[in-house]
Amino acid sequence: MDYKSELALLLNSAQPSLSASELEEMLEIPPDAAMGDYALPCFKLAKTLRMAPPKIAADLLKKFQKPGWISKVEIAGGYLNFFVDRAFFAQSTLSAVGQQGERYGSSQMGEGRAVTIDYSSINIAKPFHIGHLSSTAIGHALYNIYNFLGFHCVGINHLGDWGTQFGKLIAAYKRWGNREDVEKRSIQALLELYVRFHEEAKQDAALDDEGRAWFKKIEDGDEEALSIFGWFKELTLKEVSKVYDLLGIHFDSYAGESFYNDKMQPVIDELKAKNLLEESDGAQIVRLDDYELPPCLILRSDGATLYATRDLAAAFYRKKTYDFYKNLYVVAYQQNLHFRQLFQVLELMGADFAKDCVHVAFGMVSLADGTISTREGRVVFLEDVLNSAIEKTRSVIQEKNPNLENKDEIAKKVGVGAVVFSVLSGSRIKDITFDLDRLLNFDGETGPYVQYTHARACSLLRKAGEAYTAAPDYTALACDQAFAVLRLIQEFPGVIVKAAEKYEPFMITRQVVSLAQAFNKFYYDIRILDEQDPAGTAARLALVDATRTVIKTGLALIGIDAPEQM
Ligand code: ARG
Repeated sequence: MDYKSELALLLNSAQPSLSASELEEMLEIPPDAAMGDYALPCFKLAKTLRMAPPKIAADLLKKFQKPGWISKVEIAGGYLNFFVDRAFFAQSTLSAVGQQGERYGSSQMGEGRAVTIDYSSINIAKPFHIGHLSSTAIGHALYNIYNFLGFHCVGINHLGDWGTQFGKLIAAYKRWGNREDVEKRSIQALLELYVRFHEEAKQDAALDDEGRAWFKKIEDGDEEALSIFGWFKELTLKEVSKVYDLLGIHFDSYAGESFYNDKMQPVIDELKAKNLLEESDGAQIVRLDDYELPPCLILRSDGATLYATRDLAAAFYRKKTYDFYKNLYVVAYQQNLHFRQLFQVLELMGADFAKDCVHVAFGMVSLADGTISTREGRVVFLEDVLNSAIEKTRSVIQEKNPNLENKDEIAKKVGVGAVVFSVLSGSRIKDITFDLDRLLNFDGETGPYVQYTHARACSLLRKAGEAYTAAPDYTALACDQAFAVLRLIQEFPGVIVKAAEKYEPFMITRQVVSLAQAFNKFYYDIRILDEQDPAGTAARLALVDATRTVIKTGLALIGIDAPEQM
């Protein structure tokens, strides 16, 4: 039951000139429980209803049909305050969690409709650096969230595996490379070759021609070129799969840019047929002046296709293959312009699915100690970041809980979880600075803090064992501390839907942090296990169990494991 909207409906029956949605929007949660659990600021209605606030409140109070779950309604200082029957609230919330368990908050609202999610989308022969982390973490979270709501998700790693840079890389490899070294040091070695190519090309113009020639060979299907390129691709995928394994991620498709090589011509033909293509300095473009956008480049003057051309083909392919309800691109905001152009061209082509394409943009990630620089070949590999988070966690465990079983397993879940959590702890568009020490702090608003709270709840339940089988007395949960926890649990299903609608996994992160905080307050203030009060204890344990469940589900949705002990 959604109490807030229920209350709004009842208020709407009392005062039909205000819509239920308007009322729901206005209902507040008072900062102090002495002022009720929900409050309607009547003074804000004075203008619309052309009445004095005290009169509005008195009028509403008179006509309001108090339901069983509300224990009392009061007028105070321009507000109408509603007090929830907390025992009822506790019972209905906890029985919902009890019945649905780890599926609490899930739904069938998606009705199996497809959501394609383009995320991570790494580039071949380039390191998986921490800048890719946001796309990977946000995309994975959205995948879980939409799945939980009954959608059918398709995770796509749109590999950056096409372009002249691969010709250059082969040229560099042919000149200075060595098979064993590349086999051994993989992306690092390729990166060095690439950097060297750019340095030497400044002096030696012939290099660029060599690069171009090799790319032409790739395009023409030359056997040697393809086999070297295929090898680079294999090496890269092997490297990144280590990171995906650590994060527990798999993709449904690795159809990257090169996959669309033979799928662009029909799109180009259609652009032509619809009179959308225009020549400009030998290149083919689609003008977007009417939309205050620069033209979208479709073919270069040498006939080569571009990033946008492949994305156009990919969009049609995804629609045809998956018949998506929504097509999401989890890509940094630096590509805003690209996606605006892409969606605009699709619309001009009459693709009605253009409106279902969404650029889920996010901000920059930088490191607290020094920034990332690809050009100089100095990058921070995500795998190293994850491994050092795991290492640090292991030493904390060693110090605080040396007898813990499965130390390695838990250090992995906590270390990796902390990194993912930090990326998903603020609204996605905000730039973030990455600071290992801070995100591993067990006392801050961090992953380890939430995981620790979950483990604490599990340990309490273990300690209680089977000793409390009395029928729960929910009046034991009428205190503010318990009600604060219950309220967050009750809101959880709605938060998942909002997070999906706004493509903001951090809403879930925030909810589990608040829940952990409220639970810890409850835990410190209230005696939970009390042999003198078996019925009250049973109710409190049900609350502990529900908290454990919701934290676990919340963390799972954002891609984080919740160990039962740590
Ligand atoms: N590989 C690109 C990059 O790293 C991201 C690709 C995003 N997806 C897409 N369909 N354009 O910048």
